[in-house]
Amino acid sequence: MRVLSVSSLKGGVGKTTVALGLASAAFHQGLRTLVVDLDPQCDATTGLGAVGEFEYTVASVLKNPKHNVVSKSIVASAWGKAGTGLVDILLGSPRSIHHDTPHPTVRQTWKLEEALHHVEKDYDLVIIDTPPSINALTRTAWVASDRVLVVTEPGIFSVVAADRAMRAIDEIRQAITKRVRPLGILVNRYRPASKEQEFRVNELREMFGETILDGYLEEKAYLQQSQGAARPIHTWPGDGAALIADFFTDLLVTAQNSFEESNEELQVEEPKVKRKFLRRHKRGKEKPQVLDLDTALEMLGEEIEPEVPVTEEWTTPAWQDNETAAEQQPDLSTNTGNWTFKLEIEEDKKEN
Ligand SMILES: Nc1ncnc2c1ncn2[C@@H]1O[C@H](COP(=O)(O)OP(=O)(O)O)[C@@H](O)[C@H]1O
Ligand SMILES: [Mg+2]
Repeated sequence: MRVLSVSSLKGGVGKTTVALGLASAAFHQGLRTLVVDLDPQCDATTGLGAVGEFEYTVASVLKNPKHNVVSKSIVASAWGKAGTGLVDILLGSPRSIHHDTPHPTVRQTWKLEEALHHVEKDYDLVIIDTPPSINALTRTAWVASDRVLVVTEPGIFSVVAADRAMRAIDEIRQAITKRVRPLGILVNRYRPASKEQEFRVNELREMFGETILDGYLEEKAYLQQSQGAARPIHTWPGDGAALIADFFTDLLVTAQNSFEESNEELQVEEPKVKRKFLRRHKRGKEKPQVLDLDTALEMLGEEIEPEVPVTEEWTTPAWQDNETAAEQQPDLSTNTGNWTFKLEIEEDKKEN
C-alpha cells in the first residue's frame, strides 16, 4: 500500500479535483484505492457520491484509530460499476476541524498512520485530500504519506503558498519522518494564452526547478461537470475529457515511479525504527511483530523482567496510553522554524 497526500496551503487551487482525478486513474487501472477526506469541507466525500449523515467518519478515526472504528468509517464510493477498480472513502466530516489544532503533539500526528496500518492489506493506493493549512490535519496526512503532491495555480499568492508547503514538508521530514517526500508541484488551471500565467510559471520554475512537474493541468469545464455528477473523469464522454483523463493517468504513473525509488535515508534510519514499533502500530509492521514483546526485547538485547505486567502493557495499543501523563512531561522544542513540535517523550524508565 502506498500513500499520497494532495496538498496546498491555499484553498480553491484544485486539491480535491486532483485527488479525484488521480482516484479516477487508479480506478481505471484496476487498483484498490482508498480516498481519505481530511478536509472538514468534505468535498472529496461529496465528489465520490457519499452524501448523508454518517456516525463514523475520519473525525472518529482521529479520536480512536482502532480497527473497528476505521472499518466503520469507510464506505464504498458511488463510482461502483463504472470501472474495474475499487474506490472507497474514509468519510470526511466537518467535525474533523476539532482535530486541526495549530500545535499538535507528535503522537497526534501519527494517528492516521496508525489507522491506515489496519487496512494495509485492503488497498493498493491511499490518496489523502488535505485542508488548505499547515495545522494538525495536514501534518497528520503527511506523516502517514510516502509522497506529497503540492498543487498550485500560476498566480502570485499560490506561488508563495507552494514555497511554504515545500518548506513545511521538509520540516516534517527533519522532525518526524524521513519517509515522506514531495512528489512535486503541479500547476493547475493553466491557460496557455495568458502572459501573466507564463510569467508565474517561469517564476515557479526558477524557484523550484525540477520539482515543478512537467505537465500542467488546464482549466476545463468537464472537470467540474464530472465532479458535480459524482463520476470519474475517465468515464466522462468526449475527446476533451479523455485528454484530461490521460493527464491523470500519466500523473499516477509519475507517482508510482516515485514510490519505487529507494529512500536511502530510511535505510540509514533502520535501528531507530526497530525501537518505535514497540510503541505504535505502523504500516509495514505485522501485528504479531508489534505484540510479541519477547522477540522484540530480544532484538533490542534487553532483559525481560518477570515482574513487568507484560500482557496489560503491550497488548494495549500505544495510542491508548495515558495522554494526560504524556502531556505533563516537559515539552522539548525541535526548533524547526515556523512552529514548535512537542517531542514525544519515550518513557524508557517505565519500560525497564
Ligand atoms: N483545471 C480545472 N478546470 C476547471 N475547473 C477546475 C479546475 N481545477 C479546479 N477546478 C474547480 O475549481 C473549484 C475549486 O477546486 P477544488 O479542487 O475544490 O480546490 P481545493 O480542493 O484546493 O479547494 C472546484 O469547483 C473545481 O471543480
Ligand atoms: Mg478541496
